[in-house]
Amino acid sequence: MASTTMNGAGRALSSTVTHTKAAEETARAPEVNEEAMQDMHAKLAMMLMSACWTPAAALRVVVELNIPHILATQAPAPKYVMTSEEILKHVAGASKPNARNLERTMRLLTCKSVFSEVVECSAKGEMQMVVRRYGLTPLSRVLVPEHSTGSVANFVKFATVGPVYGKALEHLSESVLLGEDAFELAYGMNEFEYMHSHPEHLSLFQAAMTDHANQMLPLLLAKYQGFKTVRKLMDVGGGEGTILARILARHPHVQGVNFDLPEVVATAPRHRGVEHMGGNMFHKIPSGCDAIFMKSIMHDWNDEDCLKILQNCYKALPVGGKVIIVDAIVPLETPKDSEALENVGIFASDFVMQVHCPDGRERHQNEFQHLVLAAGFSHFQVVVQLDYMFVMEGIKQ
Ligand SMILES: C[S@@+](CC[C@H](N)C(=O)[O-])C[C@H]1O[C@@H](n2cnc3c(N)ncnc32)[C@H](O)[C@@H]1O
Repeated sequence: MASTTMNGAGRALSSTVTHTKAAEETARAPEVNEEAMQDMHAKLAMMLMSACWTPAAALRVVVELNIPHILATQAPAPKYVMTSEEILKHVAGASKPNARNLERTMRLLTCKSVFSEVVECSAKGEMQMVVRRYGLTPLSRVLVPEHSTGSVANFVKFATVGPVYGKALEHLSESVLLGEDAFELAYGMNEFEYMHSHPEHLSLFQAAMTDHANQMLPLLLAKYQGFKTVRKLMDVGGGEGTILARILARHPHVQGVNFDLPEVVATAPRHRGVEHMGGNMFHKIPSGCDAIFMKSIMHDWNDEDCLKILQNCYKALPVGGKVIIVDAIVPLETPKDSEALENVGIFASDFVMQVHCPDGRERHQNEFQHLVLAAGFSHFQVVVQLDYMFVMEGIKQ
């Protein structure tokens, strides 16, 4: 009966009646048993997990198109929000802009709290018009390149799968079956060798590591007191020297040597008090420093390589000197709380190492202790926990 009314209100009435009937029928339906429910939930969980790449891919799009910067600089007061069409007017190279696709991207990330959304509805005849505007949140503010404490946009660009890692990921199953590194299978060389011949990948990697360092440095500098007694500190695998520069700014009595591959230090910026030195940590680590710092180095390599690096540290240090290692520590039991950031950090990083590095992996505390003592150091201790990373020390006596 209601379906004979053809105006908008009638359609609404019709759908209410149908809905009520459906609700009555639903109430009479036999309940789905517990086992079937669990089965359905498990299927849904697996299907959703298989779509976990979507927010990462969307994140890559907004960083590539510089959308956080556009929102930070172009969104008008007082709400500081913009529609997808408005945003696209500021995107370079948008010769045939597709605002609908950008809106989909923004909505997916709004679900993850990366953007805020203001929805405005109005009627145009029988049509309901919806205008969505997007703004920055605390999450997307750290993607604005000009963020006051440094952004993590380059880390996002590096870590979300682009063409370089896409090719390596194709070999993940093979790396399980053949025991070979996925990156090597894809390119016939390890990632550091690849960077040597691909300067654009090297500079993105270094920029990403600088972002990573900037993210964790406030915690390291606040919690770890071990720099107070150091006279001259070498950062082995120190990249562009950002970490060392920040340590020296906090501890001005310390002299710094930033040691990395020649091609890395050749383009590294100058930092006050930091001497850049090119070399190969597998061949020789120069002496002259009473402490050696290494962040995110051990996890790049297999045990044999780590032992070689630590032995070279040992040789370079004087008696009483120390090696300071900053890396993730994998717990013995695998935690079940997959949402906790620390757990995601550790196990995501461990999985990523499997792709990037020849036998690179995160390690348990006992494995670090074994390697440090085997290299000749007489003491090993875990000094302090940062987030999912820890500071460890080995002392030469
Ligand atoms: C994962 S990054 C860590 C960078 C920095 N420590 C940080 O945490 O931001 C590894 C670093 O080791 C350097 N590296 C790789 N092989 C090396 C070698 N044989 N000798 C010296 N440095 C090396 C890379 O160039 C890179 O800067």
